[in-house]
Amino acid sequence: MNKIKIAPSILSADFANLGKEIESVTKAGADMIHIDVMDGKFVPNITIGPSVIKAIKKYTNIPFDVHLMVDSPDHLFEDFVNSGSDIITVHFEAIKDIERSLNKIKNLGVKAGISIMPKTKPEAIDNLIGFVDLVLIMTVEPGFGGQSFMEDQLPKISYIENRIKQLGKNDIILSVDGGINKDTAPAAIKAGANMIVSGSYIFGHKDYAKAIDLLKT
Ligand code: DX5
Ligand code: ZN
Repeated sequence: MNKIKIAPSILSADFANLGKEIESVTKAGADMIHIDVMDGKFVPNITIGPSVIKAIKKYTNIPFDVHLMVDSPDHLFEDFVNSGSDIITVHFEAIKDIERSLNKIKNLGVKAGISIMPKTKPEAIDNLIGFVDLVLIMTVEPGFGGQSFMEDQLPKISYIENRIKQLGKNDIILSVDGGINKDTAPAAIKAGANMIVSGSYIFGHKDYAKAIDLLKT
């Protein structure tokens, strides 16, 4: 049995107290911190960049899982690595030569992930799974926290899980992001996810440890 990892998305944290929030979810049992970087172009929202990531790095020793919702982000990879990103995930839909971008990330010494939006078929990344450390399936349209889980994305999780098994790459993280709460997590886990990203559910809960526990069961 695979242990399920939980990555709280700080998009729903109190931005005025980010350091404290990160300390709290770390203490509550989070496995990674999920950081949503949005550029106002690939998605209609703007969030944070490397300087904020650098500032919050000292509040935890768990890995930073950085989700780049950024159009053509290659020129930014070095800054994100230097600021303390441990995994950099890029969007299949945002880059022309995705293999080149994934290699660039790996050559900088961090893990590389690929994410697909709800409209993208999982077959589109068939040939890329062998190159990545993480696959991130979006179960909402990227851009905002607090949206509803799209159940019709569940078969994509199973499809990718099968591909991972076929390749014998059992250490690939299969992550799911968007609308995950205690009611939707079980379906995502059953479909094959081994990491759950959750923002509004965890940070909207009074007891972060309890919320994290409920997501695992
Ligand atoms: C959406 C982001 C998600 C978001 C999840 O574009 O990628 O990580 O923060 O938030 P919830 O869990 O509230 O759907
Ligand atoms: Zn995300």
